[in-house]
Amino acid sequence: MRTITTVAGMTTARDAATGTVGLVPTMGFLHEGHLSLVRSARAACDTVIVSIFVNPAQFGQDEDLGRYPRDEERDLALLRDEGADIVFMPPPEEVYPPGFDDWVELRGPIAERLEGEHRPGHFRGVATVVARLFRVVRPHRACFGEKDAQQLRVIRRLTRDLGLSVDVVGLPIVREPDGLAMSSRNVYLTPDGRARALSLSRALAEAERLVSEGERDASNIRESARRTLVAAGVGIDYVSVAGEETLEELETIDRPALLLLAARVGATRLIDNTMLAP
Ligand code: PAJ
Repeated sequence: MRTITTVAGMTTARDAATGTVGLVPTMGFLHEGHLSLVRSARAACDTVIVSIFVNPAQFGQDEDLGRYPRDEERDLALLRDEGADIVFMPPPEEVYPPGFDDWVELRGPIAERLEGEHRPGHFRGVATVVARLFRVVRPHRACFGEKDAQQLRVIRRLTRDLGLSVDVVGLPIVREPDGLAMSSRNVYLTPDGRARALSLSRALAEAERLVSEGERDASNIRESARRTLVAAGVGIDYVSVAGEETLEELETIDRPALLLLAARVGATRLIDNTMLAP
């Protein structure tokens, strides 16, 4: 496994790669969710490239960029065990060289609602870094988690709109045994917060049950989820029942939908989601 820190070095290594190339973009502090993406790329591609880059452009002013967890040595050991070929870990000035000022702006409900509304500039930062990674790494396939369902849809549309010929693959959410969706940010949780954070996956499971029993009124689903979160003392950013493709809010669950949650447990912001199939 090679580690590469420069765009020039990555470009040369990519030019030398034969067969299909798979990319797994991450911000590091890896967990089983990330590793499931690496395994999927490993199974499908000849060369597996994992990027580790805590992207300053996707963090808001008051967000956790400065304290985002990092453990480079542990990440590299995990990736070596998974059989990754290349780890691309550039410093910020390689990704954003002096004078860099070309941004990917996204419009429409896919980018402007939900995370787009609550984290202004977030998807601009995500889209710009992912477009840049796609251009440098030129992957045939790129693996993303359904954990960030809106991000996955943003990247699918970006790929289409920019005419990038990369197959964007979405993979299932990996959870802790008790249901908590794995996240690098879970390390911020206190034991009490960890217990309260379980209300997110509980709210999703409850909604799945309601829909399986025939509930189709989206406002009843939202209300049920809100009650579960409020009862756990968790602050709500949004509770949304949205069309799976367009992410437009639904009144009736008459097509494949997503229940998307964003909540605050103390100072920690968590997101989670599930598919609701009528
Ligand atoms: P990061 O939060 O490190 O996540 C990297 C990838 O891992 C994303 O595709 C995310 O959806 C996936 N992932 C995270 N937790 C997961 C889980 N529990 N189950 C399955 N997949 C999971 O998302 C980012 O980084 C950044 O925005 C990035 C795309 C790298 C751009 O900077």
